[in-house]
Amino acid sequence: MHTYDRLYIDGQWVSPLKGRSFETRDPSTESVITSVAAATAEDVDLAVRAARKAFDTGPWPRLSGAERALVLRRIAAGIRDQQQALAEIEVRDNGKPLPEALWDIGDTAGCFDFYAGLAEQLDANRERPVVLGDARFSSVARKEAIGVAGAIIPWNFPMLMAAWKVAPALAAGCTMVLKPSELTPLTALHLADIADQAGLPPGVLNVLTGFGADAGAPLSEHPGVDKLAFTGSVPTGSRIMQAAARDIKNISLELGGKSPFVIFDDADIERAVEWILFGIFWNQGEVCSATSRILVQRALYEPLLERLAQEAQRITIGNGLEHGVLLGPLVNRDQYDKVLQAIARGRAEGARLVSGGQRPPHLAHGYFVEPTVFADVPEDSWIWKEEIFGPVVCVRPFDTEDEAVSAANDSRFGLAAAVMSADLARCERVARSLRAGIVWINCSQPTFTEAPWGGYKQSGIGRELGEWGLNNYLEIKQITRFDSDQPWGWYIKPERKTP
Ligand code: NAI
Ligand code: MG
Repeated sequence: MHTYDRLYIDGQWVSPLKGRSFETRDPSTESVITSVAAATAEDVDLAVRAARKAFDTGPWPRLSGAERALVLRRIAAGIRDQQQALAEIEVRDNGKPLPEALWDIGDTAGCFDFYAGLAEQLDANRERPVVLGDARFSSVARKEAIGVAGAIIPWNFPMLMAAWKVAPALAAGCTMVLKPSELTPLTALHLADIADQAGLPPGVLNVLTGFGADAGAPLSEHPGVDKLAFTGSVPTGSRIMQAAARDIKNISLELGGKSPFVIFDDADIERAVEWILFGIFWNQGEVCSATSRILVQRALYEPLLERLAQEAQRITIGNGLEHGVLLGPLVNRDQYDKVLQAIARGRAEGARLVSGGQRPPHLAHGYFVEPTVFADVPEDSWIWKEEIFGPVVCVRPFDTEDEAVSAANDSRFGLAAAVMSADLARCERVARSLRAGIVWINCSQPTFTEAPWGGYKQSGIGRELGEWGLNNYLEIKQITRFDSDQPWGWYIKPERKTP
């Protein structure tokens, strides 16, 4: 790819109309990587018009699913061809360790391949008969693309979050405008480049880099957009829902969480430690589904805390491009400040700090925070209730299964939850009692393109991934036919009077 100072609109790389730009930084070094185009409402309008035209009169929605699948598979191949380079860009823009960025990019390609398969299947299952209670009629239910989608995504998994929206939208036959986060704009532009080279028709995918207020808000308010798909914070999700309300746009929202992990005292302590660490410290804890609230049954509580603290202290912190690093920096200074403030708040609220809690003393630059473990966290404290979105885990003891389930469910969020026990019947029972959209048994975080993803309560609306992800971008139409040769009989003919 050439430069990052252009927007991708209607198949062209164009300068933003107001000529604005912003800088994106490498959070490991705090230095500027590059200058990036900053879209404003004028560019949003051009992009939505291009997407509108591509939907209303262009070829994309009119191709068969199999034809669209060919392009999606070429996009997947294009991503795989550049996997290493894209992963390195993601590390520099976001901070995450390279092996995790390589997973992300591999999953990004996998997501395009998966939805290519669903696009093909749509040719066979687009319409199905509906049995009506009146034999004079026949009816089918038909799936059709919803129209122009606006996708607004966060900075924690930049290219993967783009794929979770772009791949199903394109598979469905939608056209779209994608706005990546201003903190991590780079890989979305590469995706546009790859899609362009894969032969995606002009206007089908438009990519606008820029800020939430200047580009995201006009996109969410634009009357030419039929559907909004958002991943990010609860307050912004609420704003997007309000913007959508005006024109009754279809929405799907994937918001924050404070996901619990219930560990019974028959669990293997070493396995528990590994999944707890992964559940909160992968991707620096900047994960919507991070299991940030740990409930441990009393007999295992102190031994587990001790092992957890030992292992947390052994985690290698540093620049994500360095070999062996497990924990990179937080995405920017705001997030770094926010996490350190949360840690200070936890201390003030009386939680017991058992590991971490500060900036690693050996790192002079970068937004690094040590993996932090709080024990005895009061259940009414801010750190127990609110999403920190960083490498901070809160631990509390419990005695009974009922107590654990009710503590786990005592949250305004309901994205994910996890349970660990040697007793599988208990795990299955608890999994069904947890009020969350994703429940892991004897593990935490593994995510599969085939399975539904999304939250209960304030964690969101709708489901991404799998067939549910495709349904986000489909309308349902009924087509009903009157098959009888008898009159309908709405009006009664006046009775003829015999003379
Ligand atoms: P955000 O939710 O404000 O940003 C996400 C996306 O929304 C970005 O592309 C942003 O430009 C856009 N946006 C912002 N304001 C908008 C508006 N008024 N209209 C339309 N689009 C808008 O999250 P931000 O500011 O990056 O981080 C704030 C906090 O949110 C973080 O500290 C973290 O706690 C949480 N967060 C949660 C995520 C999750 O997946 N659950 C992801 C990112 C952040
Ligand atoms: Mg950056």
